[in-house]
Amino acid sequence: MEFRLAFIGFGTVGRGLMQLLTEKQSELKNQQNFQFKTIAIHDIILGTIYNENGINGKLALDLAEKRKSLAEHPDIVDGWDSERIITQTSANVIVEITPTNIKTGEPGLTHVRTALGNKKHVVTTNKGPVALALKELKNLATENGVDFRFEGTVMSGTPVFHLTDTGLAGAEIKRVRGILNGTTNYILTQMENGIGYKEALHDAQLKGYAEAVPDADVLGWDAKAKVLILANVLMGAHLEAPDIHCEGITNITLADIQNARANGKRWKLIGSVEKTDSGVSASVKPLELSENDFLAGISGITNALSFDTDTLGEVTIIGPGAGKIETGFSLLTDLLAINRNHNCSALRK
Ligand code: HSE
Repeated sequence: MEFRLAFIGFGTVGRGLMQLLTEKQSELKNQQNFQFKTIAIHDIILGTIYNENGINGKLALDLAEKRKSLAEHPDIVDGWDSERIITQTSANVIVEITPTNIKTGEPGLTHVRTALGNKKHVVTTNKGPVALALKELKNLATENGVDFRFEGTVMSGTPVFHLTDTGLAGAEIKRVRGILNGTTNYILTQMENGIGYKEALHDAQLKGYAEAVPDADVLGWDAKAKVLILANVLMGAHLEAPDIHCEGITNITLADIQNARANGKRWKLIGSVEKTDSGVSASVKPLELSENDFLAGISGITNALSFDTDTLGEVTIIGPGAGKIETGFSLLTDLLAINRNHNCSALRK
């Protein structure tokens, strides 16, 4: 199977994936038998390029990195919208990486529905569609014989769902608890170093960690979407956003942080999901953790997640939760999983 990729969205994450695909192309072919062409990129700001024989991805990347429009690319097309790219090209994998909208899921939700309904695999880092319509989209993927994968929606490329799908398959996950938003953890860490909230947030935005609208980070909505995804994917829950208690970090002052430090404690924004007698409960809230809680030692942009299982007790992963290459890598791991699932020759002999 030759992968024919169409990118819907070409922001930081898309550029991260394109960089990896460009740099690792021969390694991916030789070691994973993963062969691909990018045939289209559609970005609402940069424009649309399309060529059935494959576009020059490196050139698109160079233009986008210089904040230049794709109009300078030889494969520019006029008037093509996302629906036309998804439905009227030979793309067989749609890379959906438009910005997350946690309230409506759009435009990502429509893109994912359209792609799956047209028998195209979808890889995405967009939390909106997964948080709002997981069951519907999984069913649609199954009915159409394609994969819907979303590793990067939680902890960027740090393997959450690859771990739970394979290594932890057969274990019951009773509780998960962790630091799921890099921006707020970065801000809290910087504040411990005496840097003010605004400066720390600005820095996180410059580094590309923060969401397009940073309220989504600091008010806890981003972590809430991730908690919702974890509850519904790992515990088969059917939670919706209002079911999750959510507080962000905006009420935590420099004085709170310094007082905590003076008492050997640290403030952290903690997401948790737990099976209870009546179902599944989930929350996002800032907690003052004692230093012997391992989560207190997770600093900066790093995320961590601990799975409480029936067979192994606690299993913990620590790794990046945001970033261009880190999140781009999540899409690459999803593409490689599709290659393993649907391409017999990708399996090791
Ligand atoms: N803004 C998010 C974070 C990016 O800081 O964790 C990854 O979802």
